[in-house]
Amino acid sequence: MNAYSTALKEQVGPMPQIISKLRQDTIMLLNGERAGHMGEYAFMPQRYVGDPLSGISSWKSVVQNPDFPANRELHLLRHPGFHEKITDHLIQASANGASIIEFGSGTPEAVKLKTIPLLEAFAAARGKDALDYTALDIIPNLAASCKTLVEKDVDIRSQAMVRDFITDSSRIHLDRPPHIGLLWGGTLMNVPYYKGLDHDFTVANQMRKIGKALGVGSYLATTHYWADNQDPSQCLAPYQTDENKAMVRSILYNIQRVLDDAFDPELCDITIDYNHTTHTIEMGAVSRVDQIVPIPPFNGASLTIKAGQFLNLVNSVKLDPFQYDTLAQKADYRVINSVVDEQNHQRAVLLQYRGPA
Ligand SMILES: C[S@@+](CC[C@H](N)C(=O)[O-])C[C@H]1O[C@@H](n2cnc3c(N)ncnc32)[C@H](O)[C@@H]1O
Repeated sequence: MNAYSTALKEQVGPMPQIISKLRQDTIMLLNGERAGHMGEYAFMPQRYVGDPLSGISSWKSVVQNPDFPANRELHLLRHPGFHEKITDHLIQASANGASIIEFGSGTPEAVKLKTIPLLEAFAAARGKDALDYTALDIIPNLAASCKTLVEKDVDIRSQAMVRDFITDSSRIHLDRPPHIGLLWGGTLMNVPYYKGLDHDFTVANQMRKIGKALGVGSYLATTHYWADNQDPSQCLAPYQTDENKAMVRSILYNIQRVLDDAFDPELCDITIDYNHTTHTIEMGAVSRVDQIVPIPPFNGASLTIKAGQFLNLVNSVKLDPFQYDTLAQKADYRVINSVVDEQNHQRAVLLQYRGPA
């Protein structure tokens, strides 16, 4: 172990849950059991990797690109139909107030642009006392800074929850029904899944499981949109930027750390391509040489990353509206309203629980 790793360990203290989870998931990935490293690892804070390779700082640059989906999503909020069909609908259905929980709240910048306008409209119509906000993220500092921002800007009761929404949904409690779940930025579409399992099936099960555990009556989700004659691979270019490659590389540095430095990210090239079979933008790494990686805690076992082998780290799944609505139905939700932005790139959908069929 080098001095840099030792210093990091001392700085971070006992290994946080996310680090031990990353180690286990990485061993599964190298074993070919996982289909990728999803969402949370791209957002890990810089103290685990060191500036300027932090995932979150790269992400902030990635979303500056006006063509990046998270940026295009903002056009939806200015669409007149959004207020009428989404915000007003939610307000009208919540005469006595509501608990709004944001799954994967992400950066305060995103909360400011997407969540705060919704909370303000709600508070103006129903009163500030009628509303609770929960910022839920697996990354502690993200959840905490989103909560602080909402308290400051909207002045409503807020809480930060640091949980894994996949494994901890039974430990999430909200006060005031109805419970409304926000899924901006494709959150929940990017759940981890395993080789051989169908992605849509996995997402639908998670949506149902989390929804049931929390009593989520409605989800407000944003997804991609494209017309029948458009090719989803058109989404690829804004992902193939240096900033996005830096974010993917930051995951490799975290992997290096949890594998006790036995793996070298600098021997890898980052590749980002569209997979037409899975409708997925796959972002990952290809090692230029064979790398033999002892599995910590080392007991003689090791895995080999072969030269030329693709390690899929992050997927961005692109479902068309029909596929998305089918997925919602499988999760026991139905689409009651939807709005498409003027450029036909993004779609906001309001899903309502309809109970088991
Ligand atoms: C695609 S980003 C979206 C962030 C933000 N909502 C936005 O629209 O920009 C997903 C967020 O979900 C968080 N996340 C991913 N998997 C998670 C999990 N299993 N439990 C809790 N948070 C998770 C990530 O840390 C990240 O902040």
